[in-house]
Amino acid sequence: MMIDITRVRTDTPACENLAYFANAGASLPARSTLAAQKNYLDLEARVGGYEARTVAASQVDLFYANAAALLNSEPGEIAFQSGASEAWWRAFLSVDLQPGDRVLVGTTEFQSAAFGLMQARQRGIVVEMIPDDAHGQVDVNALTDMLRQPTKLVCLTQIAMSNGLVNPVERVGEVIKDTDALYLLDACQAAGQLPLDVQAYRCDFLTATGRKWLRGPRGTGLLYVRGSILDDLVDPVFVDGQSALWNTTDTYQLSEGSARFELGEMNPAGKVGLGSAIGYALDVGLDNIQDRVRSLAASMRDQLWQIPTITVTDRGEEQCGIVTFISDGVDPITIATALRAKGISVSIPSTPQSRFMFESVGVDAVVRAAPHYYNTEEEISRFIAELGGIVG
Ligand SMILES: Cc1ncc(COP(=O)(O)O)c(C=O)c1O
Repeated sequence: MMIDITRVRTDTPACENLAYFANAGASLPARSTLAAQKNYLDLEARVGGYEARTVAASQVDLFYANAAALLNSEPGEIAFQSGASEAWWRAFLSVDLQPGDRVLVGTTEFQSAAFGLMQARQRGIVVEMIPDDAHGQVDVNALTDMLRQPTKLVCLTQIAMSNGLVNPVERVGEVIKDTDALYLLDACQAAGQLPLDVQAYRCDFLTATGRKWLRGPRGTGLLYVRGSILDDLVDPVFVDGQSALWNTTDTYQLSEGSARFELGEMNPAGKVGLGSAIGYALDVGLDNIQDRVRSLAASMRDQLWQIPTITVTDRGEEQCGIVTFISDGVDPITIATALRAKGISVSIPSTPQSRFMFESVGVDAVVRAAPHYYNTEEEISRFIAELGGIVG
């Protein structure tokens, strides 16, 4: 099945005015996602917040069913979150790490994870970097060797936010499976861009955000925790009446499944919006989305290489919809600002967000143009033409 490009563009109001390639930052919502949120907010205004939650329970809870379908998991293994960072921290802090325990980590980790790992080091936990292979992806052979020593946790990011590479997350899952280590996968840049499958990856945790490739609202995200590991985890740091039941004066009982990683007070309209956005992605089809995004990105890379002063900085044997580049004479911010004035949106990842990666490439910032499935070849041609004018 092909994507009906006219339909998805009509469904996306901003396509009328913008050639929008900032999708790896925060992509554009579909009309239906916007309507789902607005309708829910209207309902809250009419009947009150608690009553709205009861009346529209099926709409709010659609999030779990849709997220489970997206990941090939059970709805009870999903927790709603405010973003991928919160999801990552909740997963990380639930692992029983003691001084001397060992954590292995890839070089594609985002800043939030780097901060968690710094704190872990301060607590005496041993954090070791897994080397990259020649393509910049995680070196699975090196990881296999490292896993011969006792390891508590492996943290990996599926898609680097700063250079478009896709890590071989399934092969990583295969080498972890025969060890005692848990596997925490940051799929923030992958969710909504390609099909995900927690059974194939054999990951124990998966984290994602709503606003990027899933086209969901800001302030939304999701955490998957494999049901079979719950008994091995420590209690969540934040616990309220959603995460647990105060069952005797001195005890509480954690909620079933991943509900223990949620607090009761969150934004239900956001949850409705994310559920709707995931439903939209499932309707379009994740295989279709992956094919179109990769083909647009490949075309964009080819055309960028034709501009003599541009260097494409993407790495990886397998690449995705994140296209990054630098110019010989013009800095990324100047490029992005000049493009913005022409109605073309890109973003600028920089060193503090993904320091391991940037230091290995030796640049401070890149321009990131990330086509989603609703973008077109015509928009890419316009982008290339305008960019050519800016960089000379
Ligand atoms: C790879 C990766 N992981 C995690 C995050 C953090 O996501 P959030 O801002 O939703 O916390 C980002 C955000 O850019 C990211 O690119």
